[in-house]
Amino acid sequence: MEFSKKSPSHEAWVMVTAYDAIMSRDAASAGADLILVGDSLGRAILGYDGVNEVTLDDMTHHCKAVVRGNKSLPIIGDLPDGSYETPGMGLKSSQQLMTTGINTVKLEGPKYNIIKHITSNHIPVVAHLGYTPQTADAEANPKKVRAQDLQTATELLEQSLKVQEAGACMLVIEMVPREVAKGIAESLRIPVIGIGSGPDVDGQVLVCTDLWGDHHFPFKFLKAFGDLQKNRTEALHHYSQAVKEGSYPEDRHSFHIKKSELSNWLEKLDKKEQ
Ligand code: KIV
Repeated sequence: MEFSKKSPSHEAWVMVTAYDAIMSRDAASAGADLILVGDSLGRAILGYDGVNEVTLDDMTHHCKAVVRGNKSLPIIGDLPDGSYETPGMGLKSSQQLMTTGINTVKLEGPKYNIIKHITSNHIPVVAHLGYTPQTADAEANPKKVRAQDLQTATELLEQSLKVQEAGACMLVIEMVPREVAKGIAESLRIPVIGIGSGPDVDGQVLVCTDLWGDHHFPFKFLKAFGDLQKNRTEALHHYSQAVKEGSYPEDRHSFHIKKSELSNWLEKLDKKEQ
């Protein structure tokens, strides 16, 4: 699978995470170009403390649901932490995820040999550099901007060129200074999708629960485009109140026994009471 620098509509790529069939359907109808079944699944949906608890079976289960939700958009599935320690293991895990019907896998870090092995076995790979949530470093330095000086920016550019050379079809870069992200995007022929890396790249990705306003993380790069948490809580509150005060369900929400059977039914209940 090859991706050009521009989306099919010749604009910036819009990637968003989805974890189930409904989110997948909604992403497609809202005009996204790409769906990522991210291992952000762990924190966003499964109630885990972080991405490191997400298993290959979790990812497989959720990739299947996302595939059921829409047949039009390319779907990228994250290889979870610990599932690609060696090239062979990476290939086996990728093959398991691909059986769900997704189009591409994503993995974190400058793992050139693993990328090469997976892509040479005809499975497209998206690379993820910069801040990489699965690594121990990310645990120790949560959400720290990467590549802020010449040396680390140069290293990141070199890594980016090498993952492209190894066969990656797209690169996600997370929490990198705008100027560095721009330089990398301009140096690569594959599309560079940013998260917390400024606007001068080939597209953007956000975690759907973050853009819905479900969480209120204090990260500069996040923007809530709605307040779904408020809407959802309000709906649950109205439902709860309505049941308690007896205003839901009404007769118009009810089914009725056949008219011809009603008197027999009431008679039977009467007899039972005697
Ligand atoms: O897991 C995820 O959702 C991701 C995005 C933040 C890029 O990797």
